[in-house]
Amino acid sequence: MKTKSIGFAILTAGLLIFSQTVPAQLPKETEAQKMQRMLWWTDARFGMFIHWGLYALPARHEWVKNRERMTNEQYQKYFENFNPDLYNPREWAKMAKEAGMKYVVLTAKHHEGFCLWDSKYTDYKATNTPIGKDLIKEYVEAFRAEGLKVGFYYSLIDWHHPDYTIDSRHPLRQESDTAYARLNKGKDMSRYRAYMKNQVRELLTNYGEISIIWFDFSFPGKNGKGRDDWDSEGLLKLARSLQPGIIVDDRLDLKDVEGGWDFTTPEQVKVAKWPEYNGKKVPWETCQTFSGSWGYYRDETTWKSPAQLLELLIESVSKGGNLLLNVGPTARGTFDYRAQERLKAMGEWMKYNNRSVYGCTEAPAEFKAPANTLLTYNPVTKRLYVHLLAYPMGAVTLEDMADKVKYVQFLHDASEIRFTTGSNEFKNNLNLQLPVLKPPVEIPVLEVILK
Ligand code: GLC
Repeated sequence: MKTKSIGFAILTAGLLIFSQTVPAQLPKETEAQKMQRMLWWTDARFGMFIHWGLYALPARHEWVKNRERMTNEQYQKYFENFNPDLYNPREWAKMAKEAGMKYVVLTAKHHEGFCLWDSKYTDYKATNTPIGKDLIKEYVEAFRAEGLKVGFYYSLIDWHHPDYTIDSRHPLRQESDTAYARLNKGKDMSRYRAYMKNQVRELLTNYGEISIIWFDFSFPGKNGKGRDDWDSEGLLKLARSLQPGIIVDDRLDLKDVEGGWDFTTPEQVKVAKWPEYNGKKVPWETCQTFSGSWGYYRDETTWKSPAQLLELLIESVSKGGNLLLNVGPTARGTFDYRAQERLKAMGEWMKYNNRSVYGCTEAPAEFKAPANTLLTYNPVTKRLYVHLLAYPMGAVTLEDMADKVKYVQFLHDASEIRFTTGSNEFKNNLNLQLPVLKPPVEIPVLEVILK
């Protein structure tokens, strides 16, 4: 009897400890509660992604270890020489804020497995490189001080951890099952799963409020990895229990699980319409690079122009989504001059035009976009924004809208745009009279104040 109750006590204590670390259930919430939890994010519309790690040294793509099939030994020189002596995240945060960005997501660990923080669970971390400090701590403090919401990207993939099995996306990928079996002998993914949980616990416990966690990424199937390999549900439960308000991406392979993700992540694509899941519009964010790589890539030259980048942002908002725009800092710890130029140009536009971005979304279907324009709409102020992608010759017509419009002005300088209505069957058309000279604004915006 006695031993039985002691046994029971131990069991309950054990269960208690277990339930404290990873809860049994994902928290339940209604659609409305979820929208409320995500409101700051859907209002923000514009964030900064930062891909920074050892791959900044080779400076030829963050997948360089994979692309060039490097071993840990071959990659080690980057660890030994990692010394970003000019790292000053307050400068990064200022540039992000001035560009108009409201949140930030930094790669705490990318696929290479290197950790920017002082993790207790590995030696493969910034504190053991020449720079010798926790880079995450300064990052969090700097961006928070500028008023941005702070997030982490955490790679599920890990090309360095000894228990992470070689798979089809690994630098040491193989041709045959027997080769995989030989290389993976003795590796134990359950240890890797525990490692990830320990690290996520560190990241979401030691750095104050963390608003976003971006897990990346799943590739289920033969020689791939998915939810069971990661224990995706366990990771998510842990994240939500440590940071109840946290916003989570959709790359844990939990698309069909209720509460398994918050937003979808079209990568490097311009979506044709507001993305849906099971026939319902869902929160979404497109992540995009300035040029073709996430990590710093010295010789990559396909940099998008400020106008193209602004169009990406406006286009996203016009379809109800966010833009997470990526910077790949150099191995000295600075933003590349090309990134700086573009952030500046975007900030110049945002300074005068951010009212058409923050708090805005897709315009109601009753408003028809004139040719070469993108519409956004603020449902609270009930203002419609017409973005002039190609500056027209003198006039723009808002079809079938005369009965809906009170006043029109340029957004950047609040100067009146006069209008007339059409005649006969065009009576309800509004003909806006624009100055011939394009205002000195990359993409001019008309602010339409509705009745
Ligand atoms: C990817 C890539 C990656 C990048 C990410 C950003 O799936 O593996 O290098 O971090 O997407 O969305």
